[in-house]
Amino acid sequence: MKRRVKLGVLVSGSGSNLQSIIDHIEKGLLDAEIRMIISNNPEAYALVRARKHGIPYTVLEYRDFGTREDFDRKVIEVFNASGVELVIMAGFMRILSPSFLNAFPMRIMNIHPALLPSFPGMHAQKKAFDYGVKFSGCTVHFADDGVDTGPIIIQAIVPLYDHDSDETLAQRILKEEHRIYPKAIQLYAEEKLEVAGRKVRVKDHKQTDPHPLHNPPLVNF
Ligand code: GAR
Repeated sequence: MKRRVKLGVLVSGSGSNLQSIIDHIEKGLLDAEIRMIISNNPEAYALVRARKHGIPYTVLEYRDFGTREDFDRKVIEVFNASGVELVIMAGFMRILSPSFLNAFPMRIMNIHPALLPSFPGMHAQKKAFDYGVKFSGCTVHFADDGVDTGPIIIQAIVPLYDHDSDETLAQRILKEEHRIYPKAIQLYAEEKLEVAGRKVRVKDHKQTDPHPLHNPPLVNF
């Protein structure tokens, strides 16, 4: 039987990325099991998803903890008690403390709705839209002590069109998030990710999309 990587998922909101991970596991496309979900928000729709799929979850509210360190210590305790190997930040709106990063070295993944290092932080889709870029996208990376700065595992490029709003752009990006996050986790599960400094190499990786992209397109030019 294939080894299944044991996930701990951190959520704050809708949990559509969590749902995509669950769906990929249930379809047999992702060799993982979700051992525990932690939400800092008791109203998060992600918890409805957890209940529906019979996945254990814990709600930890910031106001019940004195400091960020105290909060993170509790998260570490809950994840360790659940045998979590890899932490997945899925729309979790909080920077991690050094003790959390030390507890899971290069074993915390985050997804960000922009082509990092462009537009880190909150409201990335709107920032990209307002800037007028022709492409944006999404990034899965290992977390480090910065805001959306860790080594990049996988990115998807998403075009912007003239008729877009920041919301239509966000929806197009989210669709790709739902594809690349399970893929990044599967690469981890297959032990194909090699981290050297800022670079993440993917073992046995075959280049299949060698063409540069243009937007607007270079037709007959
Ligand atoms: C996603 O778009 C994710 O990239 C973003 O929050 C959303 C969560 O959606 N995360 C960040 O902006 C982190 N800087 P979800 O709860 O439906 O997965």
